[in-house]
Amino acid sequence: MRRKIVAGNWKMNGSTDLVENLVGYVRSEVSSLDNGVEAVIIPPALYVRDVKSLAGDRISVGVQNVACWESGAYTGEVSAVMAKDCGCHYALVGHSERRQLFAETDATVADKVAQLMSQGLNAIVCVGETLAEREAGQAEEIVSAQVRKGLAGVSGDGWQNIVVAYEPVWAIGTGKTATSDDAQAMHRSIRKVLEDMGAPAEEISLLYGGSVKADNAAALFAEPDIDGGLIGGASLVAKDFVSICQAMPAGSES
Ligand code: 13P
Repeated sequence: MRRKIVAGNWKMNGSTDLVENLVGYVRSEVSSLDNGVEAVIIPPALYVRDVKSLAGDRISVGVQNVACWESGAYTGEVSAVMAKDCGCHYALVGHSERRQLFAETDATVADKVAQLMSQGLNAIVCVGETLAEREAGQAEEIVSAQVRKGLAGVSGDGWQNIVVAYEPVWAIGTGKTATSDDAQAMHRSIRKVLEDMGAPAEEISLLYGGSVKADNAAALFAEPDIDGGLIGGASLVAKDFVSICQAMPAGSES
């Protein structure tokens, strides 16, 4: 059964105050939901333990990135082993900001996924096309290649730890969301690629990200191949994040 996930990627935002004000509120509100949603908070790595201690068992915690290596002389990096040690269950991999600003390639993504698989952590692998690629009619081709290359090393039980987040680059932080129809079409195509790769495609959760807000989440989550969201800006506002969690329809898993 697919997990229904609403994950909040704080990016390089947040503070001790935000952790204290937001996490307890989200925990108490999410605990009363009966739609089966799993809320995941993904703060900057320095705040992971604080979020974890306030989130209790109700909310999962993740990191925004992990190193390609297990340990050693890689100043500034955080490993999958450490993420696990600090109580994380999830990690983002290949976010478009990492691809664009930190030169991450599909090969890097595959290395990071391998690190996470070795620790039994869930990888939220981010894919998405730029505006120019969409306008050139290449969106599906680009996203399909990112999925194939980034997940090339996954097999067997490893698929249980894979989540794919479709985040069109042009929709991130811009207020422009993909229409529910366009998002659904791309999610369907990603599921087809996963199937072609031999993955249990119908069991894998696919998230949409890019300007998801309280007022557009329900329409997106109602689509058959959209199993949740990866939320940026709105995840920094407790009430908005909770509203997005509430927008998940009950019983929508397949
Ligand atoms: P916004 O929700 O701010 O558009 O960010 C999306 C995102 O990049 C989440 O990873």
